[in-house]
Amino acid sequence: MRMPLIAGNWKMNGSLSLVEEFGRAFAGISLPVNVEVALMVPFPFLGAAGQALGETAVTVGAQTLSDRPSGAFTGEVSGAMLRECGARLVLVGHSERRALFGEDDAAVLARVQAALHAGLTPVLCVGETLEEREAERTEAVVLGQVEAVFDALDAAERARLVVAYEPVWAIGTGRTASPEQAQAVHAAIRSCLARYDAGLAGGMRLLYGGSMKADNAAELLAQPDIDGGLVGGASLKVDDFLAICQSAG
Ligand code: G3P
Repeated sequence: MRMPLIAGNWKMNGSLSLVEEFGRAFAGISLPVNVEVALMVPFPFLGAAGQALGETAVTVGAQTLSDRPSGAFTGEVSGAMLRECGARLVLVGHSERRALFGEDDAAVLARVQAALHAGLTPVLCVGETLEEREAERTEAVVLGQVEAVFDALDAAERARLVVAYEPVWAIGTGRTASPEQAQAVHAAIRSCLARYDAGLAGGMRLLYGGSMKADNAAELLAQPDIDGGLVGGASLKVDDFLAICQSAG
């Protein structure tokens, strides 16, 4: 049985007062016990988020990390630093990192390995562009991104990941993948994972991301291979994010 995970990705948004607002809101309600909830906040808010959400069931995470453990890498943040500041999960390979910051599959793998080494749960993000979908290359692209990481890990490491499928054309566009489109890719990812190990495939949580909102979350989450959501814009509003968390229960 896979426990659903709803993770909010604030990207480069939010403020300390929004962190506090989330802390107050989540302290006052009870989340479904069978749902894990996480908020991936910008680096400077990690400490405050840990404090504000410390008494709640919400786990704090980060949005990227360095592939190096320490050293003269001005501006970089290591996995160990993230752990020390309270992060338990970290996004790796988000399409914005791949497209805007030049992270290729090798860079993504190095960050997954750094996250594992630091004791963090890497949430590996994969997804195709619109051009790739229209060229009927969705599976080849997505499974290629999955294999680029999973091929290089051992069985124990693989089992520690979460995978998030985020079609690039659905991110921040209001254009959500239909439940059928999302389910088809999730099923393909699970079959791909089964080639490593059936137990791995059965236990791996596969999240959907891309314009997930309070009004479309339930039908996406009802799909058999969708085990949660990676939520961007709707995770910046307490009520919207809470509604999505509730619909996963
Ligand atoms: O990582 C979450 C994401 O990229 C989806 O963003 O705003 O479309 O929910 P959004």
